[in-house]
Amino acid sequence: MAHIPVLASEIMDGLLVHNGSRVIDATANGGGHAEMLLAACGKTGKLLAIEWDKTLYAGLQEKFKGAENVILENDTFAHIKRIIERNQFGAPDAILFDLGFSSYHVDESGRGFSFQTDEPLDMRYSTDTELSARDILQTYAEEELARIFKEYGEERFARRIARAIVDERHHRTLERTGELVELIKAHVPAWYRRGRLHPATRVFQALRIETNHELGAVRAGLEGALSLLAPKGRIAVISFHSLEDRIVKNMFWDAKQAGGYLVITKKPITAARSEITANPRARSAKLRLIEKL
Ligand SMILES: C[S@@+](CC[C@H](N)C(=O)[O-])C[C@H]1O[C@@H](n2cnc3c(N)ncnc32)[C@H](O)[C@@H]1O
Repeated sequence: MAHIPVLASEIMDGLLVHNGSRVIDATANGGGHAEMLLAACGKTGKLLAIEWDKTLYAGLQEKFKGAENVILENDTFAHIKRIIERNQFGAPDAILFDLGFSSYHVDESGRGFSFQTDEPLDMRYSTDTELSARDILQTYAEEELARIFKEYGEERFARRIARAIVDERHHRTLERTGELVELIKAHVPAWYRRGRLHPATRVFQALRIETNHELGAVRAGLEGALSLLAPKGRIAVISFHSLEDRIVKNMFWDAKQAGGYLVITKKPITAARSEITANPRARSAKLRLIEKL
């Protein structure tokens, strides 16, 4: 299923993109939001689209073939400052971060982002990075695994699951998502196994965050974006879980305290019920906006 851009009208209203704007989509994916941003900045504006995943990047090259005012970069947005500088892009008027993974990763990538299908335990957006989820499960110390599950997944049975993984390593390497799901199920209480949330949800989230250094990337990306933004320029960030949203909120408030920025969203903007009905993924989306004065 194609990825449906979330909070599209709220982003377009919030980023104030107009003819001639210099716009960055830091998480371009299939180019849904990017296309709208490009239409709004017109022929006199320009769009820099960043995407870390090679397959998705190839799709963007195809989609924007021949577009003169589009620059594409296959890199992490953690390097946004470097990317802006090496392209001599100038100070951006609008930057969008739509964090996390996309429908493509869950439905098509075959890289183990979902606990619903049995696939290799990879979970990397960029296959150029060193450690896959499998390598993390195979090499990290028990305490480290427990910390990740607790901090990044808020998993209440973090210690138990970490111990079970390390015990299992004496017999075999966990290679597939199905094996990890079975192991988790076997080591959590029955009431938890039968709960509303699938028992592997939190461990999968934690592993994905660790595999891709997601929280560090958000900090580095926002730091670069805030420092290079043009006067009156705006940044929009959509996050999908509380750990990310907390970082965005704190970094925006710190920037305001330091001076020179206005936080546009005192509370995050969330999707209308009609959008959630059409696209359940929008349910947990939170949008925050900041402006450089
Ligand atoms: C939620 S999707 C974005 C959807 C997009 N706005 C659209 O309209 O289709 C997030 C995208 O960010 C990419 N991504 C994740 N971490 C990244 C990073 N550190 N740097 C660049 N891209 C990243 C993922 O590969 C994914 O394609």
